Amino acid sequence: MSEAFDLIVIGSGPGGYVCAIRAAQLGLKVACVEKRETLGGTCLNIGCIPSKALLQSSENFHEASESFKDHGIIIDSVKLDLDRMMARKLEVVSANTKGVEFLFRKNKVTWLKGEGKILGAGRVAVGETEYATKAVVIATGSESTPLPGVAVDETRIVTSTGALELSAVPKHLVVIGAGVIGLELGSVWRRLGAEVTVIEFLDRIVPTLDADVAKDFQRILEKQGLSFKLGAKVTKAETTDTGVTLTVEPAKGGEAQTVEADVVLLAIGRRVFVDGLGLADAGVALDDRGRVATDAHFATNVPGIYAIGDVRVGPMLAHKAEDEGIAVAEILAGQAGHVNYDAIPSVIYTWPEVSAVGKTEAELKAAGVAYTIGKFPFSANGRARAIGTTDGYVKILADKATDRLLGAQIIGPDAGGLIAELVTAIEFGASAEDVARICHAHPTLSEAVKEAALAVDGRAIHI
Ligand code: FAD
Ligand code: NAI
Repeated sequence: MSEAFDLIVIGSGPGGYVCAIRAAQLGLKVACVEKRETLGGTCLNIGCIPSKALLQSSENFHEASESFKDHGIIIDSVKLDLDRMMARKLEVVSANTKGVEFLFRKNKVTWLKGEGKILGAGRVAVGETEYATKAVVIATGSESTPLPGVAVDETRIVTSTGALELSAVPKHLVVIGAGVIGLELGSVWRRLGAEVTVIEFLDRIVPTLDADVAKDFQRILEKQGLSFKLGAKVTKAETTDTGVTLTVEPAKGGEAQTVEADVVLLAIGRRVFVDGLGLADAGVALDDRGRVATDAHFATNVPGIYAIGDVRVGPMLAHKAEDEGIAVAEILAGQAGHVNYDAIPSVIYTWPEVSAVGKTEAELKAAGVAYTIGKFPFSANGRARAIGTTDGYVKILADKATDRLLGAQIIGPDAGGLIAELVTAIEFGASAEDVARICHAHPTLSEAVKEAALAVDGRAIHI
């Protein structure tokens, strides 16, 4: 047996690395096992960070080629240097992953390089070396869900990983799945010139949003040139030298048709990744959906073994993983770690962005909760007009009886930043009236949040 630790975290994604740092801050002797060459997990290496780098670059390209002329700025010939765009993306990723390495050194967290395996409570092996530990936190994340008949080669048929490093702009990109990855990365390649078709099994896009918001979002994306085949399923993909032939059928059954693509992006969700961890031998139970089963304090059925992030129940989001990492570290240090799952925002980083927090209308209806809606469009917001992006609105759901904020969804410029105010309001149990009475600077996009809160009671001023 080698060195002993208070805590070994397996996986260095946003759940794992944040957990390790917080536990070290609280005085625990901590190691984090990571098999990848760099720290930061899916999010920093092949997820949140590279996708946001490309979303920004492609938006800049689109603005320079299309939008600047509205502002009276004429650029005669805008050219794409995809190699430079990709190199910049790697620089952004590297700055972030090296940053985590620095934070590990600063906080005296030991990086155990290699694949971690749980041998039982208090025992973790990394390669040939076995370590003793008082606690283990599983933070091994998730991977792209496969689709039978659609074999991923990461060149012609890609997951998000391949879609983040295409060497040329595809002529026709077909995306399978109108969820977050499909719409973000579909937007990237659309802005860079690809024709983009999105095939979705359901009869709507982004099933986690309210139906009206999803419909309006779809309309905005269609104006940008993305096209949608809803209520359709891909049953086969045949790769040729030049592209891919997809067989597509109506989801409810019917005649099949073929669709030709240069590149296909498979983005139908992500599934838990626990391969090689030795969970079965260690006796760690999974739930009915293959996730690591945990109680409200992140504990598995085996004493001393915990799980956080994408491997356990809840939205597969980096900030959810981070907050769980902090909570479990605090619990292990004898404090009261806690995550409020009613106040976890989600953001789709398209242009405009789409954000959400709390309950949807469908959830409130299912729970029998009476609610009122306050909606305010960006077309009536002075700052949005000045920026030149008036698509979208702020939508707030408040309890009909008490006026307490229950949920909010925003489509619009900086929707991801604007939602933070409503997350804070929900966290503090605020009412729509509370938000409506807060002074918001003029002219800012945040005035649309105040006006939507006023609109809950039919009192919006500018509409
Ligand atoms: P992960 O980040 O998946 O990290 C797990 C780590 O564990 C990996 O590095 C893996 O190598 C390592 N590992 C696995 N098994 C072992 C083992 N046995 N031994 C050693 N190491 C092991 N979320 C957002 O909130 N915002 C976004 O903008 C966003 N964008 C995304 C874009 C894309 C393209 C993708 C794919 C995901 C995106 N996500 C986003 C989701 C986000 O990346 C995940 O929710 C988040 O990374 C989960 O963190 P985690 O710590 O649970 O696991
Ligand atoms: P998703 O769950 O967001 O969307 C998958 C879509 O595919 C759904 O609309 C679903 O109905 C559809 N679908 C499922 N099976 C299908 C089939 N056979 N044929 C056609 N459509 C099918 O999953 P996605 O986009 O793969 O992203 C995975 C997760 O990664 C997200 O849920 C999110 O948790 C995380 N993520 C978060 C981001 C962010 O926060 N901005 C960005 C990217 C990913």
